[in-house]
Amino acid sequence: MEKKSTENAPIKKDIVILGIESSCDETSSSVCINGEIVSNIIATQEIHTKYGGVVPELASRAHMENIVPVVDASIKQAGIGLDDLDAIAFTQAPGLIGALLVGSGFAKSLSLSLNKPLIEVHHMQAHVLSNLIGENKPTFPFLCLTVSGGHTQIVLCESPLNMKILGETMDDAAGEAFDKTAKLLGLPYPGGPLIDQYAQEGDSKRFHFPEPQIEGLNFSFSGVKTSILYFLQKQLKTDPDFISKNINDICASVQHTIVGILTNKLKKASQETGIKTICIAGGVAANKGLRKGIQDLSTKYKWNVHIPKMEYCTDNAAMIASTGYYKFLAEDFSSLTATASARSSW
Ligand code: KG4
Ligand code: ZN
Repeated sequence: MEKKSTENAPIKKDIVILGIESSCDETSSSVCINGEIVSNIIATQEIHTKYGGVVPELASRAHMENIVPVVDASIKQAGIGLDDLDAIAFTQAPGLIGALLVGSGFAKSLSLSLNKPLIEVHHMQAHVLSNLIGENKPTFPFLCLTVSGGHTQIVLCESPLNMKILGETMDDAAGEAFDKTAKLLGLPYPGGPLIDQYAQEGDSKRFHFPEPQIEGLNFSFSGVKTSILYFLQKQLKTDPDFISKNINDICASVQHTIVGILTNKLKKASQETGIKTICIAGGVAANKGLRKGIQDLSTKYKWNVHIPKMEYCTDNAAMIASTGYYKFLAEDFSSLTATASARSSW
């Protein structure tokens, strides 16, 4: 691990951080060396699919089964030993409390037994910093639209540890809006990718769903969900096969509406702040309609757009290890009394 010095320069010690993520239904562990990710193991919990959403108790149990092999695999893939670690970073908040407790309990035990510092990481800050992983990093300041099954936020990021929420959802998250609509259409969980798939063949102007009129940079998706529900109920009264006959056009129209809400607020945030470096994070960043919408705005307004690799958009420990690295540089350590929290702003 030590870099040999050729002349009389001091030997530079690598900074090796282990990151652990367990906030929802992904158990993940990653090793970051000098800010670069060298391993990122993710165990996705398939068990929730048949229940139509994440079941908290089952998530905690699956994390308990997965955590040791996942951490072990990340250490092996990085080609290091536990003694090489300089600190252990873990997701402290927000998320499912039982799930968070598994990761935080494991991280604290490892920190205590190895006598290495502990670093607590806020999951949403880590999503923003996933944009700094790998080459072609965005320059500061940048705006980040974080869109996942649990969150929808626009964040202004001035430096790795200096960021501010400009707007967030007041009810459902964007991914939740996709998933709940998919459920109304009889599609399995998580329905976002399926809506995206059907939308590719559909006419996005065929059905109209009203955009909520929310002031400022906050979002709301519950009204959209209700208008889709009423629309479907009305159509199904006269034609019980309405959904199967029109699935492509319904999905394209729904996607157009959700993407429109997201991109309009992002455009507003860019205009208000004057910032044209735009990043995206979270699972909904995979959405083809959203990517196209942002690409169109980038051409029109000369934005510099950055989208992390998909494995760093969805929940992953690489973003935890990477954020842990920046906190290590700032000597921002936690004590063993650090507690996991289901809800917490920063
Ligand atoms: O970030 P993520 O993996 O997990 C958290 O919620 O934290 O995001 C999952 C969400 C789900 O709601 C899923 O339906 C949505 O991202 N999603 C998509 C697409 N791929 C994933 N939504 C729309 N289009 C997609 N292609
Ligand atoms: Zn997440």
